[in-house]
Amino acid sequence: MINLEDIGLKFLHYFDPENAHGLSIQALKLGLAPLHGGPVTSPRLTTSIGGIALANPVGLAAGYDKNAQALSPLSKAGFSFLEVGAATPLPQAGNPKPRLFRLLQDHAVINRFGFNNQGIEAIARRLAQTSTSIPRGLNLGANKDSADRANDFGDVLNVAAPHIDFATVNISSPNTEKLRDLQGKAALEDLLGRIKATNAKLVRPIPIFLKIAPDLTDAEIQDIADLALACRTVCDHLHQHDIGPRRATLF
Ligand SMILES: Cc1cc2nc3c(=O)[nH]c(=O)nc-3n(C[C@H](O)[C@H](O)[C@H](O)COP(=O)(O)O)c2cc1C
Repeated sequence: MINLEDIGLKFLHYFDPENAHGLSIQALKLGLAPLHGGPVTSPRLTTSIGGIALANPVGLAAGYDKNAQALSPLSKAGFSFLEVGAATPLPQAGNPKPRLFRLLQDHAVINRFGFNNQGIEAIARRLAQTSTSIPRGLNLGANKDSADRANDFGDVLNVAAPHIDFATVNISSPNTEKLRDLQGKAALEDLLGRIKATNAKLVRPIPIFLKIAPDLTDAEIQDIADLALACRTVCDHLHQHDIGPRRATLF
């Protein structure tokens, strides 16, 4: 039997992947996508991460609703939390197109967007205007041309903090040149110190997660874990799944 989801997917595959992505956001906004009505839950699914109570362990990863355009419908899609962004201080266009590629056999895509987004002012405005019944967070990014990328993360956090329940420092992306250099020991120590100081000064400090690349060596992961522990409070390793990016709750 063919269901609505299969028909929707077939329709979207007529379009170039990035246009299909945009169309799916429009469909959500127009109420054309079938939705669950709220987070899927049962007593066996409830959990808590970094002090945030969740109805189930599955949330929407950063990169789908980069500009926080479909928060309301997405909060009814079954997820227990939403992560919007990555947001950078200034709007930026991202990498040249094409930059999203379907791997049909693998049911996957390759993404080389490069933090295209409308900038934190526009994104924070939408977050402020939309309340959701499930926790929402922001993926913090840095502008490609920034003279001080570490500073960008704090700037974005400052603007968005009143409207979000958590934030993620994203140094995992291979699509912004040299971003992953921030995973090096000295650079990361500086970055985490600055983010921690920014967070501590907020009226309402929020849980901060660190998103690192999935292909680091064990030694590199150990260094990052040591730093996270040194810089903080809690350090839970959250493996999304075997090949997914890894996260640590920082403070
Ligand atoms: C089109 C696309 C855009 C993405 N953009 C971001 C982003 O802006 N920030 C980020 O931290 N991760 C981004 N990601 C990575 C996802 O958040 C997620 O970590 C990744 O897809 C791995 O999870 P999965 O194996 O469940 O897909 C993006 C992924 C895709 C496919």
